[in-house]
Amino acid sequence: MTSESGFPCGVRIAGTGSAVPQKVLTNSDLAEMMDTSDEWIRKRTGIAERRVCTPGKESAFTLQRDSLRRALDDAGMKGSDLDLIIVASVTSEMTCPSNACRVATALDAAPAGAFDLVAACSGFVYAMNLADTLIRSGRHKAIGVVGCDAMSSVLDYSERSVSILFGDAAGAAVLVRDDDPNKGSIYQTIQADGESWPSLFLPRKEEDIPPDSPDVPVEIGKLRMEGRDVYRFAVSKFKDVIEDAMESTGLTVDDISQFICHQSNVRIIESAKEKLGLPDEKVYVNIERYGNSSAGSVGLCLDEIRRDGKLKEGETIMFVAFGGGLTWSSSVWNL
Ligand code: COA
Repeated sequence: MTSESGFPCGVRIAGTGSAVPQKVLTNSDLAEMMDTSDEWIRKRTGIAERRVCTPGKESAFTLQRDSLRRALDDAGMKGSDLDLIIVASVTSEMTCPSNACRVATALDAAPAGAFDLVAACSGFVYAMNLADTLIRSGRHKAIGVVGCDAMSSVLDYSERSVSILFGDAAGAAVLVRDDDPNKGSIYQTIQADGESWPSLFLPRKEEDIPPDSPDVPVEIGKLRMEGRDVYRFAVSKFKDVIEDAMESTGLTVDDISQFICHQSNVRIIESAKEKLGLPDEKVYVNIERYGNSSAGSVGLCLDEIRRDGKLKEGETIMFVAFGGGLTWSSSVWNL
């Protein structure tokens, strides 16, 4: 927990940015493509519309690049000021090279290190925690963290129970070393349990599908989900993760100014709010406009909240996410 000079250091969010595709796909648009309705989707998920990339014009890479560029602008920094870029995504175009390498080149960040991190919807919080730890180790000074998924590229729009949930978005943060060791992540978890991975997965070929998986009419290469299993996992994990962070830090709801949570389904968020007594104004929700953008959602919320002027220096916030893997992650963060 020291800087290069040997003194303990902290971590500051120097800038944030986000990027979403131009095209809006409403529930009514989906109702023209499949047997569903605006009413069903709103009632079960809280989603009214989502953004989807226009192939050939937008993609995971362009969203990742644009969100980090905006975060750098917000921080008053250049790509060459970064010494590492972490891109959390399950929809980067290629596994080699990582999209982080392409983003680094597009932003003139070379020779900054660059890698993609695969932790599904938990990816942004995993990456924020990792970046915080690397900066505190003294080995890195400035890290660009991006969470992004272009989920439209992995959805089978003939399968109504999965495709209605997801959208495309990216959120980014530039983290820098700060002399105040109390700034940054004061408590964090990065956890997973692979046993239930078949409840949410993205097979590349027929053999990837476990033999006992339900026979669902979803194309190979597209996302498969056992909605009810994931719902149960998310409802209990959301609550457990927040309770664990509160107990471990001794903080109460009054001490946290914002809970910045993965946007999976408004019913899942409402359930956590009710069980933990979290007030509306402390739990930001934008799922109505963007759906579930997987690794994009927490960074997108962070950027919107920050631009609304709702985050103040000296306040404490909490990041919470859970998703495929199954994975989950939390971070209590002093601004
Ligand atoms: N429109 C209309 N009807 C639909 C539908 C749609 N888009 N999708 C499913 N249905 C139907 C089903 O066919 C079923 O009909 P039946 O009763 O005649 O068989 C009925 O609605 C209920 O389906 P079910 O899957 O039980 O609905 P649900 O209440 O569990 O809601 C989800 C489905 C996907 C919204 C819900 O399970 C969920 O949000 N799960 C968590 C997903 C998630 O958060 N994933 C990401 C985690 S990071």
